[in-house]
Amino acid sequence: MTPVAVHAFPGPARQAQALAEALDAPFAQVELHRFPDGEILPTVPAPSQTVIVYASLDQPNEKLIALCLAAEAWRRLGVRRLVLVAPYLAYMRQDAAFAPGQAISQRAVGGLLSERFDRLVTVDAHLHRTRELGAVVPGIEAENLDAAPLIGDWLAARGVDPRTMILGPDEESAPLVQAMAGRLGLGWRCFSKTRLGDREVRLALAGADDLKGRPVVIVDDIVSTGRTLIAAIGKAREHGASTARVALVHALFDQSVLQAMVAAGADEVVSTDSVPHPTNAIPLAALLAAALASELPR
Ligand code: R5P
Repeated sequence: MTPVAVHAFPGPARQAQALAEALDAPFAQVELHRFPDGEILPTVPAPSQTVIVYASLDQPNEKLIALCLAAEAWRRLGVRRLVLVAPYLAYMRQDAAFAPGQAISQRAVGGLLSERFDRLVTVDAHLHRTRELGAVVPGIEAENLDAAPLIGDWLAARGVDPRTMILGPDEESAPLVQAMAGRLGLGWRCFSKTRLGDREVRLALAGADDLKGRPVVIVDDIVSTGRTLIAAIGKAREHGASTARVALVHALFDQSVLQAMVAAGADEVVSTDSVPHPTNAIPLAALLAAALASELPR
């Protein structure tokens, strides 16, 4: 058995392959058969002692089942260590029961993963009310990597006007915004957000006059319906921002949302490649590989 290999589910093959190359580890894909009744059957490649499983969990429902089924096969074939690399980790936003009877999805999905894997590596998981990723997956090793330095360096390499203001669309984005602004030596602000429904938000910004005639870069971790960002772009423009660039970690939205962002006044929208998306510009392979180097034989 080889000591370590990267296995990936059908989907983000390019990103998984880039990770395998960065680690200089063999790469193979899990096959997924779909039965006429909707059941799925994964077939895993030849096992290694450690398998690094690459699975970005956007559109997560079927992927989570596929992971559970494949984990059964890997273990039965003798894999000793299963490391899940989920650059986007789904179901983290429902971290409390916000109404009687609701599931705490974060806890349930965390349990499902911690029962099957020895280590979880992700990027900017939505942990605003949970202090650390280890609390989501008790009993296994867990790392929540920070994409802010990578995004900051990417922006810096492209050139950032020193008058630029970094904006966060809500209070929860403050740690990401602050980290980015600190890295670039720029000022920052966060909108306060009231969510009125899945697709309706209201934003307000204290000190909005400061935006007049200045470029802004709006940063966020997850963009799903895009309503938050579209509102933030529109408000920044209303308050006189000269240009509006958007840099985000996990792009979960479709083409129509991208068009709406441009219509609202976005000059550029870029994302990390945690989820395959037309806005991908900032590869995560080096960040992930640095965290996973400890899995390689010495
Ligand atoms: C919220 O806490 C997150 O950081 C994002 O701002 C939010 O998930 C965006 O959602 P949407 O794109 O659906 O407005």
